[in-house]
Amino acid sequence: MANRNLKINIFRYNPAEPEKKPSMASYPFEELPGLTMFTVLNRIREELDRTLVFDFVCRAAICGSCAMIINGKPRLACKTLTKGLPKEITLLPLPVFKLIGDLSVDTGTWFRHISLKTEAWIHTSAKFDPTAVEERMDNETALRIYEPERCIECGCCIAGCATANIRDDFMGAATINRVARFMVDPRDERTPGQYFDVIGCDEGTFGCMGLMACDNNCPMEIPLQYQLAYVRRKMAAFGLGGWKGTGRTGEPQHHRAGRSAS
Ligand code: FES
Repeated sequence: MANRNLKINIFRYNPAEPEKKPSMASYPFEELPGLTMFTVLNRIREELDRTLVFDFVCRAAICGSCAMIINGKPRLACKTLTKGLPKEITLLPLPVFKLIGDLSVDTGTWFRHISLKTEAWIHTSAKFDPTAVEERMDNETALRIYEPERCIECGCCIAGCATANIRDDFMGAATINRVARFMVDPRDERTPGQYFDVIGCDEGTFGCMGLMACDNNCPMEIPLQYQLAYVRRKMAAFGLGGWKGTGRTGEPQHHRAGRSAS
């Protein structure tokens, strides 16, 4: 069977040249077996237009740099095969994040801000002892932490989220997922009240409309709605006086993937 002839439409705009209006450029491309959108972009830049701006680092769905809107859906270019797409493919930069140029956006500043705002590190009074044997953790708890840890901070969940698209103060699923990661970690000594101050608000878990776009768009298939539901139930329970804490703050560690969280 003959290779398909693709038409690739790409958003072009350089914010450093505001006198030039945003536009779409189209490039013909012959499809080959196993072709990814990353390879398409790389060859367009090498062979057709050296000014094209897009991001990549790992080419293996690990770094999260190559996220963009591909035919209306946030996806990783390096993980998206052309084979499952129609012959005409349209590429746009992720919304919500600051545009750097063409398909490149600044997710790093956004995630750094969120990390600082939620204090996304383990809060412990234990003194660090480099000679101590590594602290043991049961497998169930380790797996519960591993699940939200798989986030690569690509921004697909934020870009696909209706709330994040209309409210720039909404923290989004990636943030709530990250908070969930620390809430189940027995080494983190934060109290329910401290977590509530960070995430128990309309900017955080109570601002989510439950449309599930984050879950549908996550290229790592993290069950984000479970994580959101877990955090929301904990925060609601705390507000009603029913949650006394996680890990060292009191709660037994028997929840997996947020399904037995209440
Ligand atoms: S280049 Fe790293 S996730 Fe695509």
